[in-house]
Amino acid sequence: MAIGAKAREAFLNDVLAGLSAAPRALPCKYFYDARGSALFEAICESPEYYVTRADLALHEAHIGAISDHIGPEAHVIEFGSGSGVKTRKLLAALHQPRAYTPIEISRAALNASARQLARDFPDIEIRPLQADYTLDIDADTLQLDPPSRRRVVYFPGSTIGNFDHDEAEAFLARMGRIARANGAILIGVDLMKSESALVAAYDDAQGITAAFNRNLLDRMRNELDARIEPDVFAHEARFNAAEGRIEMHLVARAATAIEVGGQRFDFAAGESIHTENSYKYSVKAFRELAGRAGLVSKHVWKDPEGLFSMHWLETA
Ligand code: AVJ
Repeated sequence: MAIGAKAREAFLNDVLAGLSAAPRALPCKYFYDARGSALFEAICESPEYYVTRADLALHEAHIGAISDHIGPEAHVIEFGSGSGVKTRKLLAALHQPRAYTPIEISRAALNASARQLARDFPDIEIRPLQADYTLDIDADTLQLDPPSRRRVVYFPGSTIGNFDHDEAEAFLARMGRIARANGAILIGVDLMKSESALVAAYDDAQGITAAFNRNLLDRMRNELDARIEPDVFAHEARFNAAEGRIEMHLVARAATAIEVGGQRFDFAAGESIHTENSYKYSVKAFRELAGRAGLVSKHVWKDPEGLFSMHWLETA
């Protein structure tokens, strides 16, 4: 699919910067073009990737209790388009909800899901807002005005795991400013588990995650005219115990080079491009992180198998 000139330039700049860095790394947000998003959906269906199923099971088990905590006449603000099953479960469970604002960068995804939600939830005011929630969106200029008893910032799915600890802290603090004094944050956080379970979840037997990771190379070829030897980069999932995260890498099986944007990047055999971090937290570690962002974790729910958690955070 063709991308705009500005998006192409940003992608090229990030690729050149990432391949020049030591160690080499690329931002994980570039996984999600149309093909990457479809591959992510397929990952969620794989037997090894427990995250999405556990998040859904958590919603099924606790949505009533969560909705009671939210209380009547709430305004729910989701970071993401809200096209999923979890959002629907939440909206259906709310008590006399006031409004729902999905915040999403892709206007197409936002409008499609907002139209569908407006049809399915005629009693909720659906107020789609096009913005990049990973940037510092100014809480005061956001069009979040319908009067409500409480604002709840909703961020399921454990995307917070892709941020390093400093970024996650800043991100949580920003959510807190949007929720304001009387508000709350409802955030999904994947729990730490064994190395073998994590490596399997991020390197499934069918090779879907490998294709998802290597889709980045196809994007570089197709959108940036990069020259990359076919099949030389292998997908690898690496558990990093010291950092508390599972990492994805593209590892050169043999010495090779990538040519892109008029530059050449040489790789020794075994050298990698680090493409993603997925941090995993204990309940205690996430409480501490939230505390550093000026938030207090007042409730935590888990799925019945204890794989995944959802924290209810309030401003301290
Ligand atoms: C969508 C960020 C939650 O980190 O588990 C899945 C992305 N990467 N398999 C995650 C992902 C590899 C996923 N998140």
